[in-house]
Amino acid sequence: MPSVEFTEANVSVTADDGQDLRSIAGKNKISVYGGPNKFLNCRGFGLCGSDRIKVEPKSAVSPMTWKEKLHCDPKSGVRLACQARLVDDAKISIEPALEYADEMIGNLKVGAMALVFGGGMLFFVIFMLFELVGKPLF
Ligand code: FES
Repeated sequence: MPSVEFTEANVSVTADDGQDLRSIAGKNKISVYGGPNKFLNCRGFGLCGSDRIKVEPKSAVSPMTWKEKLHCDPKSGVRLACQARLVDDAKISIEPALEYADEMIGNLKVGAMALVFGGGMLFFVIFMLFELVGKPLF
């Protein structure tokens, strides 16, 4: 049975060969997500890309799946915890998941500002159109 060390949680556990790292982390009450991605994730279907982890050594897990190749650069060594299956002793860092969550929060803030600004502009344009046709809104 290979062992897995979760660096940030400072926890070492043993797990069965072929088990995915998300399941191993979950069984040991360790999160592989950052920020809001704890709730906003695809539950292990390999679709959201939010459970990014760094595995050392790279040979300790199965080869990259096509879903991982969509989300992660194969040269970066970043993997998706739900797709990477354990084959040997490994050291796991969730730093990429934390960085991804920060990036996502930044994008949400920009999106919220764009929504408020866009809504204001839309209201202004509608207001001006009604003024132009001689039927003021207020
Ligand atoms: S949980 Fe969504 S990609 Fe792994």
